[in-house]
Amino acid sequence: MNIINGKEIAAELRMQLKEKVEKLKEKNIHIGLAVIIVGDNPASRIYVNNKKKACAEVGIESFEYALPAETTQEELINLIEKLNNDKKVNGILVQLPVPKHIDDKAVINAISVKKDVDGFSHNNMGKLATGDYGLLPCTPAGIIYMLKHEGIQIAGKHCVVIGRSNIVGKPVSLLMLDENATVTICHSKTPNLKYHTLQADIIISAVGHAKLVTADMVKKGAVIVDVGMNKDENGKLCGDVDFENVAPKCSYITPVPGGVGPMTIAMLLNNTVKTCEQEN
Ligand code: GUN
Repeated sequence: MNIINGKEIAAELRMQLKEKVEKLKEKNIHIGLAVIIVGDNPASRIYVNNKKKACAEVGIESFEYALPAETTQEELINLIEKLNNDKKVNGILVQLPVPKHIDDKAVINAISVKKDVDGFSHNNMGKLATGDYGLLPCTPAGIIYMLKHEGIQIAGKHCVVIGRSNIVGKPVSLLMLDENATVTICHSKTPNLKYHTLQADIIISAVGHAKLVTADMVKKGAVIVDVGMNKDENGKLCGDVDFENVAPKCSYITPVPGGVGPMTIAMLLNNTVKTCEQEN
């Protein structure tokens, strides 16, 4: 059994990005990422801080816009339009979720397609669906990067994705399909989840349910990718997978923390560098 070290793979990718950023700086090209956070969701605050820290590490300048929870949709969209036209800003990211009175789709689609470093806009998601890639959503792109980094074969394999969110489940299913996997998408209304997971060569779980995937649901030698970020009964951070009991059965598994999480941020930096390279 191999534990996929996302922390290490992400650090390696950040080093490569740092070199690219330095080369651009020599040409007097500076990369900037605008990070918008609305309200005071504690988890969002941690994610935003981690994203800013990662930017600093590779030499990308980050511009934080921390807006109060009462911010209107119009005010938020006005800010985005201003950033769309700001030459110092190569990427724009709105940390989700936004407060309930704001329509997140309207906000995401206000971001210029070229600066949509989360890849969540209709335009970039549409490109993903047709295999004509624009900017890819970070977590799904990070998962594919990790699997390839480990030399794990995807073509011809049966991949079972648990979860159908716009952020992970749907886009990662499309990417795996493009990599020639046979893809089954399961969700909260799927009867007999275990029937499906037992057939899987690769399981990607992205539901946010602690220890949903147990050892009896996993075929021997399967590859397990755990996207969950949950708290267990003792308040400790854990994924969707019962790691302790599942790990001995599989060929590869991603841990939580230190698996998919760091890859998501590395791919955000990768997208930001890409937008800058495309502009220049
Ligand atoms: N909330 C949870 N995951 C993400 C993400 O990848 N990007 C943004 N912007 N918000 C999120």
